[in-house]
Amino acid sequence: MSLPSPDAQALVLSRALSQRIAQDIAQQGGWIGFDAFMHRVLYEPGLGYYTGPMRKFGAQGDFVTAPELSPLFAQCLAVQVSQWFDQTEPVVVEFGAGSGRLAAGLLDALHELGTPARRYLIIEVSASLRERQRETIAQLAPDRLGVVQWLNTLPAQIDGVVIGNELLDAMPVRVFEIDSGGLLEVGVAINEDGAFAWATCEADQALIDAVKATLSDSPEDLRDESRGDSLNQSMNGPQSAVSSERMDGSAHPASRYRSEIGLQGRAWVETVGRALHRGAMLLIDYGFSAREYYHPQRDQGTLVAHFRHRVHTDVFHLPGLQDVTAHVDFSAIARAGAAAGLDLLGYTSQSRWLINCGLLDRLAALTSAAQAGEQGAAATLDAARTVGAAQTLLSEAEMGELFKVIAFGRGLADDALGFVRGDRRGTL
Ligand SMILES: C[S@@+](CC[C@H](N)C(=O)[O-])C[C@H]1O[C@@H](n2cnc3c(N)ncnc32)[C@H](O)[C@@H]1O
Repeated sequence: MSLPSPDAQALVLSRALSQRIAQDIAQQGGWIGFDAFMHRVLYEPGLGYYTGPMRKFGAQGDFVTAPELSPLFAQCLAVQVSQWFDQTEPVVVEFGAGSGRLAAGLLDALHELGTPARRYLIIEVSASLRERQRETIAQLAPDRLGVVQWLNTLPAQIDGVVIGNELLDAMPVRVFEIDSGGLLEVGVAINEDGAFAWATCEADQALIDAVKATLSDSPEDLRDESRGDSLNQSMNGPQSAVSSERMDGSAHPASRYRSEIGLQGRAWVETVGRALHRGAMLLIDYGFSAREYYHPQRDQGTLVAHFRHRVHTDVFHLPGLQDVTAHVDFSAIARAGAAAGLDLLGYTSQSRWLINCGLLDRLAALTSAAQAGEQGAAATLDAARTVGAAQTLLSEAEMGELFKVIAFGRGLADDALGFVRGDRRGTL
């Protein structure tokens, strides 16, 4: 795929980051895990994708998230949060607030529903995005800015509703490969041309245990004999001490099964889940159950990069200038929530969840007002745009089916509105 060229200033930043990572690889003996690489390209202070100065979200950025598409998303979320506010403190804790649009829309919509948030706490790793969030909320919901506070650390105890939209997919993952040599960890080295390249290394016990626990939860996966045998070999004995590095960077022979494992995302759910004293946690992201994620046919995993609205698989391209992301294994997320003692309140597709939260009624009200011509041509145009955005949010071919919503609770009734129809908890 041909990708657009960034400007000279952006290239300088990317080269500086590449040099730092290359030095790190050299210092670590020629190899770093992919999770370390992903962490640096996304979060290196001042140079990472999320921590650097480039625009990320929206038409001028690299990808569009649901809250950027339409305020309808925040309005539907407000319906769910408002229901939970009857049972917990009217406090929202948003992780990874991006441009701040979701916060602005949610604060306004909660106010309109008569259940305003008393506090809206944002935990965001990127200092530049915090600034952007403040500006967005000041611009779009100035009357609500007073309740918003940015925190540097997780509160010891949370009473309220935790939310994260497209948060887990931005957390670094470890990459593994299974072939006739057993289980290997796939990381990053420098090839003869001085470029980043994939390279394998012996898997440590933590990775072996995690892969074993993850794959054994999805009975259909990797049943193919050669793969199953090699996985067992690796897990049972010292022959896992494979140390030969292979630099490939290109297509993988079909006999190798490669995928990733989101240990940081799981740890995050467990940690935040333990801090949740009374309330809910709602996470929205692209992904599937383990059974689908680790299906034998998905033998190249789900890692992709987003650059100027193109999705491609060269995750080494222009470090710091493109988003690098992996899908979410929601079965593992459900287990992490259970390990924190949370109740699973629901799991469904984004389209089903939005419909359960009243998206179609809102849309109908908007379009009938526009058809009645009560608000003039600008409102009609606005309604047409909203219908287009709703189509993207709901369509199976776009965000409606790939994106999922999972909710956990502690001390709440098991009647969350967003899951009244189409709950797929049983598939995790
Ligand atoms: C893909 S963006 C999504 C932004 C926004 N939620 C949206 O939907 O438009 C991921 C966001 O998560 C933030 N992030 C990643 N890891 C985080 C963590 N552990 N804690 C808080 N924020 C995090 C990133 O800086 C970024 O703002």
